[in-house]
Amino acid sequence: MTAPRVVLGVGGGIAAYKAALLLRLFTEGGASVRVVPTESALRFVGEPTWAALSGQPVATGVWSDVHEVPHVRLGREADLVVVAPATADLLGRAAHGLADDLLTNVLLTARCPVLLAPAMHTEMWQHPAVVANTALLRERGVHVLEPDSGRLTGADTGPGRLPEPERIHAAAMALLGGAAAAGASSSSSSSADLAGRHVVVSAGGTREPLDPVRFLGNASSGRQGAALAARALARGARVTYVRAHTEVPDPDGAHVVPVSTALQLRDAVLAAARAGADAVVMAAAVADFRPAAPSETKIKKSDDDDGAPLVELVRNPDVLAGLVAERREGRLAPTTVLVGFAAETGDTTGSVLEHGRLKARRKGADLLVVNEVGGGRAFGATDNTVVIIGADGTERAVGPAPKESIADAVWDAVAMRVPVKNSGDL
Ligand SMILES: Cc1cc2nc3c(=O)[nH]c(=O)nc-3n(C[C@H](O)[C@H](O)[C@H](O)COP(=O)(O)O)c2cc1C
Repeated sequence: MTAPRVVLGVGGGIAAYKAALLLRLFTEGGASVRVVPTESALRFVGEPTWAALSGQPVATGVWSDVHEVPHVRLGREADLVVVAPATADLLGRAAHGLADDLLTNVLLTARCPVLLAPAMHTEMWQHPAVVANTALLRERGVHVLEPDSGRLTGADTGPGRLPEPERIHAAAMALLGGAAAAGASSSSSSSADLAGRHVVVSAGGTREPLDPVRFLGNASSGRQGAALAARALARGARVTYVRAHTEVPDPDGAHVVPVSTALQLRDAVLAAARAGADAVVMAAAVADFRPAAPSETKIKKSDDDDGAPLVELVRNPDVLAGLVAERREGRLAPTTVLVGFAAETGDTTGSVLEHGRLKARRKGADLLVVNEVGGGRAFGATDNTVVIIGADGTERAVGPAPKESIADAVWDAVAMRVPVKNSGDL
């Protein structure tokens, strides 16, 4: 495999020194890295540091090595562009298509994934101009990491701190893996960005008994959940697979917890999550209602009349809402990434996406994967079309694509949100 070509842009923020650690993570992982600092960045960390650590020439403006046309070539040839720290100034210049230095030229010529890791004081990060620039970039498909919350330049604390280099690197590797998978004919991402992680995936459709032989079920085949588990395993995760009724084999290597009803599924998911999970992805189709009093014996039809029994239904608990509450109340680690799936149909009150956005806000999960169902879509099909809605306002449309590719896009989004386990040193 050829070494991935990464352009590492460095903005003029106090956290520029952390980009040296990030550079080291890339080069030790075998990437070929061209560092493109801004003029301001060089006031924080000098050119010799970047040149020595990358082993490659370093340029800031468009006027050096003009015969090689670096302002176009670097972006075009890159497999990934990462900017850390991305200053308020850089977010603004990138959002509005300015090209007054080499880095902003690279951002305009790149056709590969672009990952920005902002860092700045809380007041700057929360300023409406910066909020709008960030939203605009995200809308265009640029991956903008949420900054960490913590100690800033001085004694002050708050959101705006550069994410640790390991988190940026993990998000970058997920994007490189996703790009490789998208470019390959099969989904064969070799990235192990979920190594050391425990994830819980629920799959399939629940069955709510009416009597010993009949049940209320749904049309879920379990394919999307199985694909999620398989891709998480391929990316190095330990997977607890809470599986209701599916039409597909269990993925090799998953710890399978078979369940049938919504209540059983809820109990199994909560137990696995409480035992310590980095992420819980609720892909199962869980019945909203169950018969209040299932009959212990087969319900018989009467020979004397044409009547049919009335079945009283009661609400099942909302498993995703339960997970959100458990996290809020401290029974799950606050860093557990919670992902829901919403099968929607458009109607007179709104489109699929509008319903999805409302549901995302209501549910309080970190990510909601919305797909349109009905008319043969989603259920049982091998392809799917989704929008991955983030609680942070991000939206990524994926597909139509095989359910494995959808799964990889979901794990990419999860990988960007799981905190790093340890920090390395230079
Ligand atoms: C000590 C110091 C620290 C700074 N830290 C940040 C920062 O963390 N984030 C930020 O957006 N700007 C920061 N700035 C302001 C930027 O350096 C300034 O906006 C500059 O124009 C950014 O240029 P660039 O985006 O081309 O790198 C800092 C300035 C100084 C003097």
